[in-house]
Amino acid sequence: MAIIAVAGRKGGVGKSTIVGNLAAELAAMGRSVIVLDADPQHSLVAWAAQGEGMLSGCVEKVKGGDAGALRARARAAEEAADLVLIDTPPGLPDIAYQAALVADLVLLPCGPSPLDLFSVKEALSLSLKARAERRSKRPRIRFVPSKVLMNTNLGRGLSSSLEEMGKKVLPAIGQRVVVAEAVMSGLTVCEYAPNSVSRMEFKDLAKAVDKLVMR
Ligand SMILES: Nc1ncnc2c1ncn2[C@@H]1O[C@H](COP(=O)(O)OP(=O)(O)OP(=O)(O)O)[C@@H](O)[C@H]1O
Ligand SMILES: [Mg+2]
Repeated sequence: MAIIAVAGRKGGVGKSTIVGNLAAELAAMGRSVIVLDADPQHSLVAWAAQGEGMLSGCVEKVKGGDAGALRARARAAEEAADLVLIDTPPGLPDIAYQAALVADLVLLPCGPSPLDLFSVKEALSLSLKARAERRSKRPRIRFVPSKVLMNTNLGRGLSSSLEEMGKKVLPAIGQRVVVAEAVMSGLTVCEYAPNSVSRMEFKDLAKAVDKLVMR
């Protein structure tokens, strides 16, 4: 029904973490979800293989190198599930661009460092270029503050710095130990620590995303 791509030029800002945990929260809300791992590092495939959590049943490896293949696979997956989430690699703009050409919504995670803000600007330009090529209002574009140290000035300033770039900002994801612990067990935060603050953050993000794409 809808395709959501998570993208960004910079490595390590939390793209794959957001894809995996968002998939779990959307599934917990009753949506059927397919996750396409279009990153040649295949972090999500590796995460899913660590255990027998929900990701092991919905993550699929996709070759991003072939321009048409990712789009074709995403469209076919969209027929089979309510929501298709695409994880894209850092530093390979072509794959992120292909994902933006097919997505209804592009999420751009951004960490609290000023360097993260510089690269999210480039990712925003790429998504806007895809929208221009489609001559459409799609994809919609939203920022997601990621790995935020909640009680710091850098953390507090992130959402407003992102808003100044002209796109809406979704609920923030804090930097929390439980996020990495869940990965070690092959689980999402939803499964590993269902009552944690981190889980509430991913749940709030999922609610906002669901509202944007499901009508
Ligand atoms: N909210 C968080 N709290 C704690 N650790 C996090 C959080 N988000 C991500 N991490 C950790 O930061 C590292 C990078 O995260 P992740 O792999 O999701 O980023 P990425 O943007 O997908 O990276 P890449 O660009 O290499 O694909 C991982 O070790 C992950 O466990
Ligand atoms: Mg990744």
